[in-house]
Amino acid sequence: MSTRKPLIAGNWKLNKSVPEAMELAGSLKQDLADCDRVDLLVCPPYVALHPVAELLRGTAIALGGQDLFWEDFGAFTGAISGPMLKAAGCSHVIVGHSERREIFGDSDEVVNRKLKAALAAGLTPILCVGETLEKREQKVTKEFLRKQLGADIKGLERELISRILVAYEPIWAIGTGMTATPRQAGETQRFIRDLFREHYDGGIAENLRILYGGSVKPDNARTLISEEDVDGFLIGGASLQADSFVRIARSSSL
Ligand code: PGA
Repeated sequence: MSTRKPLIAGNWKLNKSVPEAMELAGSLKQDLADCDRVDLLVCPPYVALHPVAELLRGTAIALGGQDLFWEDFGAFTGAISGPMLKAAGCSHVIVGHSERREIFGDSDEVVNRKLKAALAAGLTPILCVGETLEKREQKVTKEFLRKQLGADIKGLERELISRILVAYEPIWAIGTGMTATPRQAGETQRFIRDLFREHYDGGIAENLRILYGGSVKPDNARTLISEEDVDGFLIGGASLQADSFVRIARSSSL
């Protein structure tokens, strides 16, 4: 456990209609009112952002988008921009989630543009990186992450990089129930921090919050957060019920 304040973030993905999102956000507002030892964030689908922002106004629960487009406005059917997310009440945005990369074809170059657009809009991006099972088994995780991260943060100066968060999400652990062991998460996240030390400096590396994501549940959160380099979680499935998200947030409040 480090001195960096943990961030517990829920990625609701393609789940929760507006009424369902309001119900879940309402429960979190009530159940987490006294939870001040961790930072809290929820990322509902686009259509629920504004009503959820209104509901959470004045609480410590922040709001984030799940993705953004790199242009601010124009003829880009179906896209949502950083300034739009900001105006809807978001402070954060997820960038480069493996589902965006794998299903929607976001390349590292696209991720890099989105990261810059998020920062330009005054949002805090959560940059997701992580290897496939194949890469893990071939024992090339570090080489892969070095290349992926290097391409994703290319051209980002120190002042900008100090405003991002990273989520290490091994693809083989997402939605599979196969959580990384605390040791695997801890070691890989230390490696990611060292990459930031190489690219920038010790100050940037030490202040960077690196979340873990991939089958985080109430019963594994505590051992994972006990790792020095695990500074919180990006939670998919277990963030869809108030009870499990609240239990993870509480067990991360060491
Ligand atoms: P999961 O998803 O918790 O359902 O594994 C994590 C994520 O995709 O961010």
